[in-house]
Amino acid sequence: MGSIPMNTLIREPLRAGKSINHLEYVDVTPIIGREYPTAKLKDMLEALNADEQLRDLAITICERGVVFFRAPQDDLSVEEQKYITDMLGKLTGRPPENGLHVHPLYNDPNNIPMADGTTDKNIYVINSEAAKKLYATMKNRPGAASEPRDLGREWHSDSLFENCPSDFSFLRMESTPPAGGDTLWVSGYELYDRVSPPFRKFLESLTATCAQPVFRSACEAGGYDVMSPRGSPLNVGYEFEPSHPVIRTHPVTGWKSLFAGVGLHVSRIDGVYSFEDALIRDYVLRLITRNHDCIARMHWTRGACAIWSNVCTLHAATPDTHLVEGIRTGVRASGIGEVPYLDPASTGRREALGMPQF
Ligand SMILES: [Fe+2]
Repeated sequence: MGSIPMNTLIREPLRAGKSINHLEYVDVTPIIGREYPTAKLKDMLEALNADEQLRDLAITICERGVVFFRAPQDDLSVEEQKYITDMLGKLTGRPPENGLHVHPLYNDPNNIPMADGTTDKNIYVINSEAAKKLYATMKNRPGAASEPRDLGREWHSDSLFENCPSDFSFLRMESTPPAGGDTLWVSGYELYDRVSPPFRKFLESLTATCAQPVFRSACEAGGYDVMSPRGSPLNVGYEFEPSHPVIRTHPVTGWKSLFAGVGLHVSRIDGVYSFEDALIRDYVLRLITRNHDCIARMHWTRGACAIWSNVCTLHAATPDTHLVEGIRTGVRASGIGEVPYLDPASTGRREALGMPQF
């Protein structure tokens, strides 16, 4: 076996071409997010160079973390939404055997249908009304009401409970109240860059177990089987207990990002005592709250879309729509990427771009 030079990345980073440079945009903040006020995804799909445009969009998402399409994307079908989500990963080097995520509890009889009354195993439906009665067996878990609500628990990356978690997620909001229900994304790249070198080394040595036992209990109580496989041959059965690196390398950009270590899908930091586990998770959450310039916030409007990279962002929903009139409904598709890894030859985003440290 030949030796690999120390500074060679496991995957060569991709750089965007110019195929979507004609689209009007504004960056949501200097650190994270890009909003396209007028672009139509349908036009990208119908362009002669559709694949080139989708590839450049995918790389842009991996660099900016999240993009918003503000103009209502009413003319886009669910099949086209799924196709775009799948192609973003396919065109940027995801394992060829992987595809769209399948929700583990798709067989639940209370599964929420889409607006036309149908269901799709690759589509996760968001419905603020129907969610109240969904998965009745998952409610009233022991201890659920023993603490006041902590919205810090909302921060997560999609499908972290899978051996191969999500790469891209694409959420289209069909209807939304005039206020409330915002979604926030935080840049994992920049959070990594805000950590001192000794703490970076420490975090890089950690992994987190991301267990989600509630899927098994919901299936057992509901008398149905979990869906398998779920977007990858490695996402099967009832395991739902992977161990993921707290810092991972984005395969598309080659930059290090904070990945696991906080929120509802992280059950424990591996190999540390429980008081150390609490300290580390509080520290990661504090990183987010003391660096709110790393956050892009989406106030949803009808038909608007967000597409994000789960590799380099965490996101949090804002559960405040019960305070206003109106139902919030949306449909989400997610792709499944590779097994997360930390490439020792990779660097943070600022170092890679020759930017000064924060
Ligand atoms: Fe999510």
